[in-house]
Amino acid sequence: MAVRRRRALAAGGFAAGALGAAARLAVRRAAWSPNVAEEPAPLEFPPGFRFGAATSAHQVEGGTTNNNWARFERHVRPDGRPAISGDQRCGQAADHWERFPDDVELMAQLGLDGYRFSLEWSRIEPAEGRFDDAALERYRSWCVLLRAAGIAPMITLHHFTEPLWITDRGGFEDAGTVAAFARFVEHVVPALADVCDWWVTINEPAVYAVNGWLNGEFPPAKQDVALAGRVLEHLLLAHARAYHTLHEHDRVDADGDGIPCWVSLATNVVAFEPRHTWNPADVAAAKVAHANFNVRPLDACVDGRFRFGLPGLARRAATHAELAGTLDYVGVNHYFRALVGVNPRAPAGLEVGFDDVTEKNDMGWDLIPATLGDAVRFAARYGRPVVVTEHGICDGEVPDRRRRAFLLDSLHALADALGEGVDVRGYYHWSLMDNFEWAHGFAPRFGLYRVDYATQERTLTGGGQLYRDIIASHRARVGDPPAP
Ligand code: FCB
Repeated sequence: MAVRRRRALAAGGFAAGALGAAARLAVRRAAWSPNVAEEPAPLEFPPGFRFGAATSAHQVEGGTTNNNWARFERHVRPDGRPAISGDQRCGQAADHWERFPDDVELMAQLGLDGYRFSLEWSRIEPAEGRFDDAALERYRSWCVLLRAAGIAPMITLHHFTEPLWITDRGGFEDAGTVAAFARFVEHVVPALADVCDWWVTINEPAVYAVNGWLNGEFPPAKQDVALAGRVLEHLLLAHARAYHTLHEHDRVDADGDGIPCWVSLATNVVAFEPRHTWNPADVAAAKVAHANFNVRPLDACVDGRFRFGLPGLARRAATHAELAGTLDYVGVNHYFRALVGVNPRAPAGLEVGFDDVTEKNDMGWDLIPATLGDAVRFAARYGRPVVVTEHGICDGEVPDRRRRAFLLDSLHALADALGEGVDVRGYYHWSLMDNFEWAHGFAPRFGLYRVDYATQERTLTGGGQLYRDIIASHRARVGDPPAP
């Protein structure tokens, strides 16, 4: 079998046992091999469970030239490397802006119940206070098209991009950006409220802050722990403002579930474990990473207390009443388990990486399906329904053996969590189609549909076929009508 056997990872779970059932799960994680049973146990999801797929504007639309990422494409890193691997340009990406109706057809062929996409702020408000209502109207028409196909829209308001006029004022380093974002949200929500019930305010605030201001992978490519903390705080405040605006304006129950809007941020939950469980410094480092990245941003949305702190480096604490109680559900993006160790030369002294034995995706991320179950168990501690707003794998091989195996086993891990009573309402696979993977460019292929960028032709992958079959058999089993 092509799967490499791996050295047993000592028990630890998220952040060295931060989660209850971690030890048991760690044993399972250490022993993953793809599900090749002749008759695997059926996947049990409850009626009404929503199967979806996700994208974001800059990664798929094409022609998004007025934002921070478009400028970043021309940036050269201090060591001479281009900001985007291979000096690639996002360009037309997957041309989703023009091909949206055809892409809805592809979603329908998968049998999707939901589609998560983001609004490109730089299209809707290209200059401060100047709104392009034709762009906003296009997004509205997308919601209408989706609903006509029985697919519920889920809209992300901020997914890693902002217009250049925001970048020029310092992006989310500047407290004024919180107010500017709030004005943008006040403009767009009334135009969309009657056609959308599911909202993600900010995608992965911790990733955006860490990658932009700590490890320098994203724009503005700074390495400053204190600034990373400030940006994270501002992003959470932006989330709070959007949360309240949405509840003020979205009073139409578009999908008939009795609730006019569901609002959350999409938080990236990483399964942090110490690089060496016998090394107390690594154990402590994993705890610091887990606390700052996974726990505190969600805590802040529950009790309003923002905290960010790295021993000896930066500390920030503040209470913001408007942040308290701003999660209607917990949106979880989950991709990997990461090993954390101490390294004085690494940003913030923490080295986050992968082992050298676990099977990898094309970006070198460890493939451990059981951690999806851990991620939703963790999120469920916040006492709200959980939605997996992103999860997936880049696999450019044809056929995509790893995508099929990883998807199947991850969905089993998710179904196990549901079977234990964890309230998960949906799973949105990343991604509907191949796209521009930020600083890595087009090489990583996350799509259920493979995209030929020369012709923009889409081809269903093996993983896509499997997902389609899983959705169909779920529907046949529970008697769900074809997507509402
Ligand atoms: C997530 C991002 C998403 C995509 C996936 C692979 O962190 O939210 O845009 O890049 O990773």
